[in-house]
Order: sequence, then structure tokens, then C-alpha cells
Amino acid sequence: MSIVYLNGKFMPLEKATIHVLDRGFIFADGVYEVIPIFNNKILRLKQHLQRLANSLDGIYIDNPFSNEEWSAIFSHLIEQNEYQEQSIYVQVTRGISERDHDIDICETPTVFAMCRPIIKKDYHEGVKAITHKDIRWDYCDIKAISLLPSVILRHRAKLQGAKEAILIRNGLVSEGAASNVFVIKDGVIKTPPKTSEVLPGITRDLVLELLDNKSIDFEEVNITESELREADEIWITSSTWEIIPVVGLDNEPVGDGRPGELWGKVNQLYQQYKGHL
Ligand code: PDD
Repeated sequence: MSIVYLNGKFMPLEKATIHVLDRGFIFADGVYEVIPIFNNKILRLKQHLQRLANSLDGIYIDNPFSNEEWSAIFSHLIEQNEYQEQSIYVQVTRGISERDHDIDICETPTVFAMCRPIIKKDYHEGVKAITHKDIRWDYCDIKAISLLPSVILRHRAKLQGAKEAILIRNGLVSEGAASNVFVIKDGVIKTPPKTSEVLPGITRDLVLELLDNKSIDFEEVNITESELREADEIWITSSTWEIIPVVGLDNEPVGDGRPGELWGKVNQLYQQYKGHL
């Protein structure tokens, strides 16, 4: 039975319940993080906690814990839930209040955290993606729990036999509905810069670091929709998906329709990094 953390206590998942007036439920008034754990080691904890702090800051919630306190909660959860590959899902909402937009009436945030197994799928054959207008809001650098646009986008992708929707805003690639995007053309690796239109992905940054360590060039630049369509390779990255090659875009093959050589290289670097955590 899975053990979760809720508001200061560890308990079985079945026992964890929240008030119906929690503003997470009423307004989606909260933020979250997903942190991968490989062989009981947390990947990039400091960076994930910094992003959580930034997200909380962005919606005017005081961070309820220090990094040490967060870390102690996560360590306890990992001990209790020993899946070989798992992720910590942590969510902080503004807490319980009357249904009133005023944020000053809230005193105590609701803090919830749980471990979830990462179901390993083999992405060596690559996946399909669709393109879609970016229908989300202007603060995509905040990891907000209001994921309805992403839920709809992922469903539209699924209806077309695809795993992900790659989003286009004003003619430029922003990111995936639940991932960051890399585009490769003639050996040049590009990913969109970190702006408020994109979640600053921890996997994205790690990929760039791994490339940098091997002196493989990359560019953090705007990518047009036509560059996306003419790419030799497209990758999508996330904490739970790692680095997935996209081999079909809107039912057209990407490059030769198979995972590219550079993907093979960067995926190997990532797997080595994971293995040495
Ligand atoms: N999603 N962009 C969006 C919109 C995301 O939701 C995610 C991750 C990413 C990749 O970020 P990272 O590499 O830090 O996981 C980019 C997670 C895993 C989720 O919501 O479940």
C-alpha cells in the first residue's frame, strides 16, 4: 500500500483526504513538481526545489518548508515506497477558504506528496506527435496545477494516435503539452529559450549540460513552425519520459522516420548520467 504525505503526516493513500473547499479543488489554485528517483537517488533535487520555490513565489504562496525539510519528507517517502524507478509528485495549494478570489483570507497551504512508479516504456522506436496552437496561459514557467489545456491537448494527440502535442505560439515552437522540445537540422541542435512561455525543464537543462560536457554545440533560440516541420530529428524531454525521439509529426515522417543518430548519442549520455547518480 502506498504511503503518502499530507499536511505534516505520513499515511496510506486511502486515508489521505482533503476538504472540498480546498482552493486546489475549487480554483486550481496551486503548483506542483514531479521529481524523478532512480535507484533511490533523487535526480537534480536542488533544481526541482528551486523551481518549486519559483512557482510558489509566482502565485504568492510562501514556501512552507526549507530545502532540508522538503528533502526529509521526500527521503521518508522514498524509503516507504521502494519502486525501482519512481517519481515524487508534490503539490502545494493555497489551502482552504470560502470561495472567494481574495488570497489574503488563506492561512495554511495544503501540502501533499506521493511516490509514483515510473512505468518504463521502450521509446527506441520513437513516438508520434501532433502540432497544435498553444492554448495555455502566459505564465507557463510556473508549474501550475491548472492543467486542463494540457489534458485536452494530450487527448487530441491521443485521438490522432500520437503521444504528445507540440505547441505553436505566434508561429514559434514553445514546448510540448507535457515536455520540452529539441529540433535538429543538419547536425545543429536547437531548443527554445527559457521564457515565460515555456516550463524551464530540468531534463532540458540536463540534456544541454550533457551536450556541453561533450563539446557538442547547441542553440537556445526561437524555432519556427516550418523549422520544426523540416527537422531531421525532434526530441521531447521530461522527468518521467527522459528523452524521446519523435518520428512522426502530423502523420508526416520526421527525417527518415526513425530515431536519429544524435538522439542515440544523447540518450546514451543521459542513461550514463542516471547510472552514476
Ligand atoms: N511535466 N513542459 C511541460 C509543460 C511539462 O509539463 C513538463 C514536465 C516539462 C518537462 O519538465 P521536466 O524535465 O522538468 O520534467 C516541460 C511533468 C513530468 C508532469 O507534469 O507530469
